[in-house]
Amino acid sequence: MTRIFSGVKPTGHLTLGNYLGAVHRWVQVDQHRADALFCVVDLHALTVEHDPGRVRRLSRQAATLLLAAGLDPAVCTVFVQSHVDEHARLSYLMECTATDGEMRRMIQYKEKAAREQQRGGSVRLSLLTYPALMAADILAYQADEVPVGDDQTQHVELTRDLAVRFNQRYGHTFTVPKAVNPSVAARVMDLQDPTCKMGKSHAATAGIVYLLDEPDVVRRKVMRAVTDSGIEMAYEPGTRPGVANLLDILAACTGTSPRDLAEGYDSYGALKKDTAEAVVELLRPLRERHAQLCADPGEVDRVLREGAERARALARPTVDAAYAAVGLLPAL
Ligand code: AMP
Ligand code: TRP
Repeated sequence: MTRIFSGVKPTGHLTLGNYLGAVHRWVQVDQHRADALFCVVDLHALTVEHDPGRVRRLSRQAATLLLAAGLDPAVCTVFVQSHVDEHARLSYLMECTATDGEMRRMIQYKEKAAREQQRGGSVRLSLLTYPALMAADILAYQADEVPVGDDQTQHVELTRDLAVRFNQRYGHTFTVPKAVNPSVAARVMDLQDPTCKMGKSHAATAGIVYLLDEPDVVRRKVMRAVTDSGIEMAYEPGTRPGVANLLDILAACTGTSPRDLAEGYDSYGALKKDTAEAVVELLRPLRERHAQLCADPGEVDRVLREGAERARALARPTVDAAYAAVGLLPAL
């Protein structure tokens, strides 16, 4: 059976970008067609300045939202990365497999490091080595597929390279995984700046729809989305990113194609109104289920405990085999 692994970082409240780019598919398709693991990757949240209490709250919230969105612990595994030591154990071997140059070429590292430096802050070493940990997350489970938004494809490509290199050097140990992107909304853009990804840790929040935003807040953010000066409706992401983004969002919410949708509209106002309502309806059941789960925190704890046990049992033999393969003396 196909094995799937994916994760979400608790660095901010989950956004519509996370949902349409990743979580929606995990829920609708992936958990039913494969042996799937979904992880709140909390260790990754420590790669930038963080507040311990906030990371703790956001980790719990992210896990709760994944369940509220419809991940079913009866058919898939939901867990928190730091509960399973194998991730950190294997990450070190990945650091010993990757090169410094390869890590420095990662677009996300370059962008985030530049931003930190601009703010006068320092860059944590773990921000550079982050893809080694991400590779460990994936390879520890022998994952075949990694369903992610567009922005993570480069990291999954690097994971493939590391798996191939490790297997060549030390004998076949890891499955070589591949990234799978959604066909629509693989990159949801910020509503106020549609040339920029809708990211959960951005400071300006007017262009970001959070999954737990009240319906009126969602409507306001979508109605105020920046569009382009053109008047004719057309799906042209390169030249008219604002309208293309709204069409992508509406298409992803309704399971249609953005190009087809464009033909049905003659005003931006109508498009915004329909997009706002589609997003509100998409998020409604999720918000309701989230509230129910929050009233029963013991249930979320139970799911995470069982998820970590299952994950540990899967990862342990692979990581032990990797340790043995590189020449580390087995602990008896
Ligand atoms: P992150 O928020 O970086 O932990 O991302 C979790 C998942 O959501 C990853 O698969 C990302 O590729 C995906 N994702 C994050 N932001 C967006 C976005 N704006 N559009 C599409 N996918 C996204
Ligand atoms: N780097 C991913 C992101 O920022 C999160 C992540 C960490 C991940 N480990 C992973 C995604 C393993 C898929 C598989 O979104």
